[in-house]
Order: sequence, then structure tokens, then C-alpha cells
Amino acid sequence: MNKTVLAAIIVVIAMLGATYLAVGSAGGMGGEGDWVNKLAVLGAVVLVIVTVFVVTKYVRQMQYDKASGKLADENWDGIGEYKNELPFGWAVIFLGLNIWAIWYFLAGYPVNAYSQIGEYNEEVAAHDAKFEEQHAGMDDETLKEMGGSIFIVQCAPCHGLQADGIEGKAANLNVRLEEKTVKHVINNGQGMLGYPAPMPDRNGLFNMNTGALITDAEIDAVAKYVAGGMKGTEGADVFAGTCAACHGVDGKGMEMVAPSVVDYNPTLVADVLKHGKKGAIGSMPAFNNLTEVQVKALGAYVTDLSK
Ligand code: HEC
Ligand code: HEC
Repeated sequence: MNKTVLAAIIVVIAMLGATYLAVGSAGGMGGEGDWVNKLAVLGAVVLVIVTVFVVTKYVRQMQYDKASGKLADENWDGIGEYKNELPFGWAVIFLGLNIWAIWYFLAGYPVNAYSQIGEYNEEVAAHDAKFEEQHAGMDDETLKEMGGSIFIVQCAPCHGLQADGIEGKAANLNVRLEEKTVKHVINNGQGMLGYPAPMPDRNGLFNMNTGALITDAEIDAVAKYVAGGMKGTEGADVFAGTCAACHGVDGKGMEMVAPSVVDYNPTLVADVLKHGKKGAIGSMPAFNNLTEVQVKALGAYVTDLSK
């Protein structure tokens, strides 16, 4: 007998033996086990035999076949290439797979069919809608309470239970702005909260009173003034000449132009939650998994903290 065939038979026996050792009677080889297991083992046996048969066929072909047919005109240093017909079966499978791929992409599983993730998302959306409906008409006190309990879970890890920022780990929400934050924003500009135009950095901030770019001394003064809640007179002229155009004469901000720098309000908190925040203190991720009511509740709670 040919050596290759002999090797193939030995491989088949070895693999069947290994299959038996691996699954044993639990796989139904000894008559026990249910028919699903038996079918699976039968499949494995067929796979082993077919694989070894096909490999043997090609190995023998490589060993004994002589090439024949018409040579192509090109040859590279004497190495030529036969003009082989495209194998019919291969062409059919190739075209069939292309058609199947188009069907699969347009109409098959990924777009239309049921998926567990889809079902989960639908259920979560339905639950959120019910939650929104249940809490639609909450009064301010209840909103604040709800905001407080969300805060403990979602925000306190960084901002602290007292919302004091845990010694600079995050913003201290009991005050609107710290001096270093104001300075940082003036020096670097800022544009992450979703306003149509960002705030320019110091090279774009003119003091209308002096007609010149804002100076270091003016930055110091106005930062103190803003962080102090816009009280007193020092820095007030710089604010009026440089900042009021966008932040308003009273610093309470203007819709679509700039946020308030004297207090928190639910819109500002919602913008921070939607876009995240990065500044002098550190960076805060966006919170896009909160529902509308939850955002409103956090807005009410945070706004109340610095009052
Ligand atoms: C051209 C308009 C414009 C001018 C002038 C301007 N700001 Fe702003 N400012 C903005 C905008 C817009 C934002 C919001 C940026 C964002 O989307 O992150 C902002 C944000 C800020 C913030 C950060 C608020 C926060 O909670 O993140 C501070 C502090 C601030 N401005 C202070 C000042 C001061 C002080 C001046 C004057 C020296 C000034 N701004 C001048 C437009 C302006
Ligand atoms: C991973 C830590 C982290 C978590 C969690 C976090 N924050 Fe923050 N937050 C920060 C940091 C850091 C800043 C300061 C960013 C800066 O440098 O301006 C900040 C700033 C803020 C500000 C001030 C923004 C401004 O305009 O000055 C508000 C309001 C705020 N966070 C609210 C919240 C709320 C509400 C939650 C919970 C839903 C929350 N944060 C969760 C880290 C966090």
C-alpha cells in the first residue's frame, strides 16, 4: 500500500481514538447519551474522515501529477504559467457568496433581525420613558432630593459627599468659581460646553476701556473679582470692559453666548453633564446615560449648593 494512504489511515484511527477518549460514553459512543450528543459525535467522525481524505488526495496529486495544458505567453526567467480554466465549482461558489454577502448586509441579520442587545435597549428605553412619566410633575424640593441621591452615587466619588471637591480632586461645587479656574479660562480660552462660539484666550480678549489686550495685572484683578462673587470694586472695571459683552453686565450670562459666572443654573449643569469638563482642576467625563429628569434633578441640587 502507498505510504501516504497508510499515514492517512493511521491519522484517522488516531483522531477517532482521541475523540473517543475526549467524549467517551458521555458523547454517545458507548450507546448512552442523548441523540444530540450522538449527532455531534457523528459529525465529528465525518469531519475527520472527509478532512483526511481530501488532504490525502491533494498530497498524492502533488506527489504524482504532471502538469499539462497550454502555457501562457509570458514567462519569467524560464518559469512559465499554465492557462487553467477557472474551475466551474469555484466560480459558482464565489458568485454565490457575493450575492449572499449583499443580501446579508442589506437584509440579513445585522440590520433587521432580532438581537439581545436590541431587546435590552428597547426595554431600557421603555423603562426610562415610564420613569420620566412618573416623575414629570415633581416640585423643586423633590427634585433637589432626587438630585442629592443621584449625586451620592454618580458624583460624590470625585466631588465628595460635601461636594467640596475632595481637596482639589474635582471642582468645589459650594462655590461657583475659584480664582485659579477663572485665570486658567482667561489664559487658555474655553469651548467645550456647546456654545456656538468659544471663549477666546487672552490673545483675543480686549479691554474696551483701555483699547488694548487684557494685561497680567488685569487678569489677576478680574479673577479675584469673579471668584469673589463680583463684589467690591477692584476688577469691576476690567469685567465691564472685557467680560460683560458676553457674560452680561451682572455676570449672569447670556443665552447662546456665554454661561453665568456668578451662579450655577440647571442649564449650565446640564451642559457640563452633556459635554464633560476639562480645566484647571482636572477633567470630568460626560454623563450621557442620565435621563432628562435625572439631569434636571442634578441641576436643581447643584444650583442650590452654592446659594
Ligand atoms: C467673546 C465672548 C466672551 C468673552 C469676551 C468672555 N467670555 Fe468667558 N466664556 C465665554 C463662553 C462662550 C464660555 C463657555 C465656554 C465653553 O463652552 O466651554 C465662557 C466661559 C467662561 C468661564 C468658565 C465657566 C465654566 O463654568 O466653565 C469663565 C470662568 C469665564 N468665561 C470668565 C470670563 C472672564 C473673567 C472674562 C473677561 C476677562 C470672559 N470670560 C470673557 C465667552 C466669553
Ligand atoms: C471622575 C471624576 C468626576 C465625576 C464622577 C464627576 N465630576 Fe464633576 N468635575 C470633575 C472635575 C475634575 C471638575 C473640574 C473641571 C475643571 O477643571 O474645570 C468637575 C467640575 C464639575 C462642575 C463645574 C463645572 C464648571 O463649569 O465649573 C460641575 C457643575 C460638576 N462637575 C458636576 C458634576 C455632577 C453633577 C456629577 C455627577 C453626575 C459629576 N460632576 C461627576 C470631576 C468629576
